Amino acid sequence: MKALLEFENITFTYERNGKAVLQNFSMKIPVGKKCAILGRNGSGKSTILSMANGLLRPNEGKLFWKGEELSFKKKRLIEFRQKTGLVFQNAEEMLLSPTVYEDIAYGLLNAGYKGDLLEKRLMETIKRYALNDLQDRPIHHLSLGEKRRVALAGVMALEPELLLLDEPTSFLDPVQTENLLNELNKIHEQGTTVVMATHDLNLAYEWADLFYVIDYGQLVFEGEPDQFFSNESFVLEKGLIVPILFQVRQLLKDVLELQAVSKEEAVAKIKEMLGQRRITIGG
Ligand SMILES: Nc1ncnc2c1ncn2[C@@H]1O[C@H](COP(=O)(O)OP(=O)(O)O)[C@@H](O)[C@H]1O
Ligand SMILES: [Mg+2]
Repeated sequence: MKALLEFENITFTYERNGKAVLQNFSMKIPVGKKCAILGRNGSGKSTILSMANGLLRPNEGKLFWKGEELSFKKKRLIEFRQKTGLVFQNAEEMLLSPTVYEDIAYGLLNAGYKGDLLEKRLMETIKRYALNDLQDRPIHHLSLGEKRRVALAGVMALEPELLLLDEPTSFLDPVQTENLLNELNKIHEQGTTVVMATHDLNLAYEWADLFYVIDYGQLVFEGEPDQFFSNESFVLEKGLIVPILFQVRQLLKDVLELQAVSKEEAVAKIKEMLGQRRITIGG
């Protein structure tokens, strides 16, 4: 499995002589997958995402991008940071420009785009993320879902190969969450590797190909969602729970002959059934 980004034996502390937030941490993100990073609060998920975007430098250990050791020299780091777009938790709070148009232009400008190229990329982004109706609106008039869409578009305007999202669905309603997932699926289908830290285990089960479970700054599980949730005592030990979507699938396996179908097909079928009864599975 070819790794896009690899963490190798990384130790990291925020403060000098402070407690290590990551301890001998190793993890490989393969090309082209939808990955979910799970773990209790404070386990180190946001720290990992910031490091994956070149914002934090390990105290010990190495990062590799496509097999090449990451250099922390300024120019190389700027290049690397463009290849790995990070949408922060509460990204909407970071939209500082007066309008959507200006916000996305500002990001492009910062990344060195100028003139026609900037204009072209800006227009493509506005079209691609269906922001036409929003582009001249003041950002503070947008809904949370719209603000998140703008933040995502701003990051995607730079065409990263790896998209990192920190708790992107927190405080979104079910429709906004569904819209975001559709958007992320489109981004993934167009060839971007996507990594999301989330507390929403139903969503993680539905969406992800691969789980990375973090506990106390260590990777304690890496593998398929079904494999992780099948071991309930391990899940509970790591401060998580088995989500209702996985439980329903297990319960209905025999009844609905879901035994043989893939996770995606089973989830689609369960959602369809619940949808007919207007039941949504919240996070
Ligand atoms: N800027 C910071 N300065 C000092 N400690 C921090 C900082 N950010 C996070 N931490 C600490 O690092 C640990 C991991 O935090 P974080 O990566 O935010 O975890 P998660 O995203 O899984 O909740 C926690 O103990 C947290 O208190
Ligand atoms: Mg966090």
